Amino acid sequence: MDAAQVAQVTEMMYALRNPAGIPTYPIVFIALGVLTFAMHIFFVQLMLGTSLITLIGAFSQNAYWRRLGAAMLEIAKVSVSVAIVIGVAPLLFVQVTYDPHWYTSNVLSADWVISFIVLLILAYWAMYFYYFRNNKEKDKTLQPKSRWSMVVSLALMLVVGFIMHSLTKQMLHPELWQEWYMQNGTLDYSGSQLHAFSPWRFAFFISLAIPVAGAMLVTYRRFKSVREDADHDYLNWAASVGKKWMLAGSVISTVLYIGWMMTLPETAGNFATSFWGILGGAAVLFYGIWGLIRLRGEARICSYMALPMGLVVGLIVAISREVLRYDILNGFFNYSFFDYKVITDWYSTGLFFLTFAIVGGSVLAYFLTIAWKAGQTVGVYTPGETVNKMGTIAIWIMTLWMVQFFAVGFYIWSL
Ligand code: HEM
Repeated sequence: MDAAQVAQVTEMMYALRNPAGIPTYPIVFIALGVLTFAMHIFFVQLMLGTSLITLIGAFSQNAYWRRLGAAMLEIAKVSVSVAIVIGVAPLLFVQVTYDPHWYTSNVLSADWVISFIVLLILAYWAMYFYYFRNNKEKDKTLQPKSRWSMVVSLALMLVVGFIMHSLTKQMLHPELWQEWYMQNGTLDYSGSQLHAFSPWRFAFFISLAIPVAGAMLVTYRRFKSVREDADHDYLNWAASVGKKWMLAGSVISTVLYIGWMMTLPETAGNFATSFWGILGGAAVLFYGIWGLIRLRGEARICSYMALPMGLVVGLIVAISREVLRYDILNGFFNYSFFDYKVITDWYSTGLFFLTFAIVGGSVLAYFLTIAWKAGQTVGVYTPGETVNKMGTIAIWIMTLWMVQFFAVGFYIWSL
């Protein structure tokens, strides 16, 4: 592209920007976008990896694999909900700072954006169908029923992820938007196509499900080993599978990362050999090596670190992914989110952070405590006084939040 063509693309992107501005500094949205994307993709990977283990268990004749498959289905179910809920956050942030790109990409593939929801619902249903067909069976070593539904669930989840990947990739090609919109001299309003994708990039993000699921297995052994009814032979076997998955998975992901870096578009400049370009891949490889060194034997302390470490590695990859986006859109096309018009609104910014920290924190602390204690109790778990108090406090905080929300709303409305 010559300088005049680049200037035209730059002008187009600025023309598409929301003139209303944003309520606080754009870097805050970017930082939150990166953080929440890392959390989203971590749970996506956990969900995909544990679903894969469920599938392997479902089709295996081995009693341990069958038990493990049933146990990991419990994790997969929860992870899907968390991945979806947390997915909303980067969606909000990316459309604030990169609105010209996100919306254009969505409109160009509108049918897919809409079908995304339908496919996701079907995927979720299929997983629950499998669960309901099998959860009443006490003997988890028997062959599960309706295995096809778990296959359908995982396949649809991957299609959903692919749609997200394609939308993200299309954002990075503003030079092609007009061409995609105007095909063979006619305007294509249909939104029926996904125009761009990178098999390496997609495979890289998906493949991280292997080491993350491996980390889950190591954590699973540690968590369940304290129960009086723990079957240590089975748990040790699960952890040894987990360690292998962590190492093999991180090597596979590193190779895919290198493939992604080697196939970056010209507009990415020297990103692949830059600090962040190298760090992203190095972090993934480091994860496998860390697991190899720190998770030897029982690893009673480090076993609990395996999943948080995965999140940290994911955060490094998320930063590197964001720097790549900035390098393309700013470095090549001269579009910078830093010059977004800011119309400071302290109430909405403050409310966001307080909601995140206080409302989210108190409710999450309660739920996690209950889940933790229930998982380690043999039989039915009855919460003690402190845990009950945590629940009461969480409900009070949510009630106060709703009261202030409507009070401020009515006050503004009455002005
Ligand atoms: C449950 C199935 C899902 C899978 C397998 C999945 C997978 C992925 C993958 C692989 C990416 C990275 C794409 C790339 O950078 O190339 C991604 C990005 C993203 N996902 Fe998901 N996702 C799922 C569900 C969702 C849901 C339900 C939402 C929103 C409610 C969501 C919101 C996002 C957003 C906003 C991004 C891009 C953020 C950005 O560009 O900064 N995802 N997802």
